[in-house]
Amino acid sequence: MQPIFGNVAVVGTGAMGRGIAQMATQAGATVWLLDTQPGAAEAARTALEGTWNALVAKQRLTPEAAADCCARLRIATGMADLSVCDLVVEAIVERLDVKQKVFAELEGIVGPDAVLATNTSSLSVTAIAAALKRPQRFAGWHFFNPVPLMKVVEVIAGLKTDAAVCQRLDAFARAFGHTPVMAQDTPGFIVNHAGRGYGTEALRIVGESVADFATIDRILKDQLGFRLGPFELMDLTALDVSHPVMESIYHQYYEEPRYRPSVITAQRLAGGVVGKKVGEGFYRYTDGKAEVPAEPPVPGGAGRPPVWVSPKAARRAELYQLLKDLGAVIETGAAPSADALILVAPLGLDVTTLAAVERLDATRTVGIDLMLEDAAVKRRVLATNPATRPDMRDAAHALFARDGKAVSVVRDSGGFVSQRVAATIVNIAADICQQGICTPADLELAVTLGLGYPMGPLALGDRIGPTNVLEILFNLQTVYGDPRYRPSPWLRRRGALGLSLKHEEA
Ligand code: NAI
Repeated sequence: MQPIFGNVAVVGTGAMGRGIAQMATQAGATVWLLDTQPGAAEAARTALEGTWNALVAKQRLTPEAAADCCARLRIATGMADLSVCDLVVEAIVERLDVKQKVFAELEGIVGPDAVLATNTSSLSVTAIAAALKRPQRFAGWHFFNPVPLMKVVEVIAGLKTDAAVCQRLDAFARAFGHTPVMAQDTPGFIVNHAGRGYGTEALRIVGESVADFATIDRILKDQLGFRLGPFELMDLTALDVSHPVMESIYHQYYEEPRYRPSVITAQRLAGGVVGKKVGEGFYRYTDGKAEVPAEPPVPGGAGRPPVWVSPKAARRAELYQLLKDLGAVIETGAAPSADALILVAPLGLDVTTLAAVERLDATRTVGIDLMLEDAAVKRRVLATNPATRPDMRDAAHALFARDGKAVSVVRDSGGFVSQRVAATIVNIAADICQQGICTPADLELAVTLGLGYPMGPLALGDRIGPTNVLEILFNLQTVYGDPRYRPSPWLRRRGALGLSLKHEEA
């Protein structure tokens, strides 16, 4: 079968260009490598030959197929060699002026029907295309590193891109086993835009001294199922990569508060404490392994006061059952006795506000996060308020650890940790849908494949309940008075109507 593109050029044969060349070759195209750095294209070919030999050794490729790939990989001696190509993919330095110049030159060399594509991750596709005579044939084709393993690619239409061009890039990506998602040309496209919530909200929580970064990592992995905590992830990506992305998207959206970066990463970047690759980020690394601070122990010798639950607690019946299972003495009176530990379970509000509004004795009041059902999480999270007595804090910690489940105690903050982070992720995702950047289905695919989240952000919102997410955000706005928590209209309407966040209007 003829490949969708018979002759493909890859301009810029660094980390990304190599990966794209590998895929295009494996899909049956003849691939031309071009790089301005002397020897770079040859080095890329040698590396790719090594990759194919390794795939043969692992029996993932037949020796014939590998030999065929090697034979179809060519080195271009100059741009003129690319005249035969019906697709040119650019993966050079991330500079608008340089990319525009390369494409303007290419336009004069390739045939009239050739497709031109950029792998830019942060520049506007429309802006790059503005230098072209025929911007209709130009699109973004944004892969992730490492290309062969990250099996998603964003296909980005600029303002003037022909839909047929996107369709051909879509089909070609499918031919080599990638999942294409269609995105409008907006800052960060889908994946880098949707990824703004996780790290930035975690940084704000750390910045308020609600919990240390290792505790936040533990909570988000054990409660929401993330494979890596946000600080582990930032250490892996390295702040010299991720902090500029945070700043770029924030500024490109004209200082939209939802994307506001953190002074913590700015300072760490300035100090060179950027992550695993330099041996120190949020964690220290010895032989590539993180030194994780020990978890605070369950307090020994804590008292066992009777427990009274606020009538306004989330999942109240479930909480009673849990307390019963843990062997607690439960008080069922209209008000707590003088000795009781008082439990509240807020959605978005802080423990302090609830204690004040419900006229509870704050010294004995502790909050528990019941956004998700207890059986679904591997860790319980409790929050004190500034007045909570240490004996009451320790009694609550010991009580909820009685069955062996991990417990973290954090300081008061609207929405504990998971509620804040989850609501922020869901809200940004909802706004991506509201802006029409992509379909809800493509958003879910892009985030699960491109960011490795345990579920798509809209599915996460549906899991929590859109109405609950809305309540968390409204309450976070009350606690913080910060416009970053204002709900996207997409979430607000679906939450108010009890509709799934994936619901698209007729
Ligand atoms: P890299 O630095 O590994 O490779 C870039 C290559 O382009 C180098 O070999 C360089 O010699 C060559 N080059 C520079 N100017 C050139 C020109 N005018 N003509 C021909 N070759 C030229 O960079 P990397 O990481 O492969 O990134 C390339 C592009 O891909 C950038 O636009 C980047 O934003 C984008 N990207 C990078 C990702 C990553 O994780 N590294 C992820 C997604 C996109």
